[in-house]
Amino acid sequence: MNRGKIRKERIEQILNGGCNGMELRIFEEMDSTNRYVKELAENGAPEGAVVIAETQSSGRGRLGRSFFSPEGTGIYMSVLLRPEIELQNAVRLTSMTAVAVAEAIEQVCEIPAQIKWVNDIFLNKKKVCGILVEAGIDAVEQKLNYAVVGIGINVGQMEFPEELNGIATSVENECGYEVERESLIAEVLRSLDKWYPTIQDGSFLSESRRRSVLLGKEIRVHRHDGGFYEAVAVDLDDMGHLMIEKEGQRELLHSGEVSIRF
Ligand code: BTN
Repeated sequence: MNRGKIRKERIEQILNGGCNGMELRIFEEMDSTNRYVKELAENGAPEGAVVIAETQSSGRGRLGRSFFSPEGTGIYMSVLLRPEIELQNAVRLTSMTAVAVAEAIEQVCEIPAQIKWVNDIFLNKKKVCGILVEAGIDAVEQKLNYAVVGIGINVGQMEFPEELNGIATSVENECGYEVERESLIAEVLRSLDKWYPTIQDGSFLSESRRRSVLLGKEIRVHRHDGGFYEAVAVDLDDMGHLMIEKEGQRELLHSGEVSIRF
């Protein structure tokens, strides 16, 4: 499909004056929009900088992985936030973003979007989006300086590298019609604007639970040494940590990798 480039004016037109304070910059190519926004943050840029690239040569994923970022068919964007929150509440940013992006994707494709703890969005049991939040911390003051919220959405990809086959999908692959990337970007920004204030009181968490693909299911928890164990995903706590039950004992997972067999 001959897809047009992402246009700043079109996104602003769709937003129609909403999302005040957001400043969009669009690039043909970038190593990583997260890396770039981190640099902006370190140089004092205000909250609301939004950087979007048509392709990334070194897209970053969680746990040191790379993020497949082919040209013209995806959305690769990073948003700079400077929330006035306690350091311990910073972990909520990923879950809040997942709620916002799931809602935005569902809005354009009309298929229920689910969240696989903690940073993946699923359509029809396959990954359509990954989220990577990177924080800058003031170690002396023990507070959050900034957070870079990175969002990668597969919009039009029909083929994926072999290692992603059966695991990844795209919005259009699932909904069967063309989706305008600018509309989806506008929807994501609108939704982030709506959910961002709930970081303080954690009221996005009921939505995280409702959209979770894991809760009530048997999961595999992958350890850093390459091993794994089986458990049941029981709940999310007030910070968005995953509560699991293993051999009758409950424990909280703060981060890490879990998988589920559908
Ligand atoms: C993951 O699935 O592990 C998270 C992927 C996050 C990818 C996005 S794409 C835009 C932003 N820039 C990056 O380098 N990574 C994030």
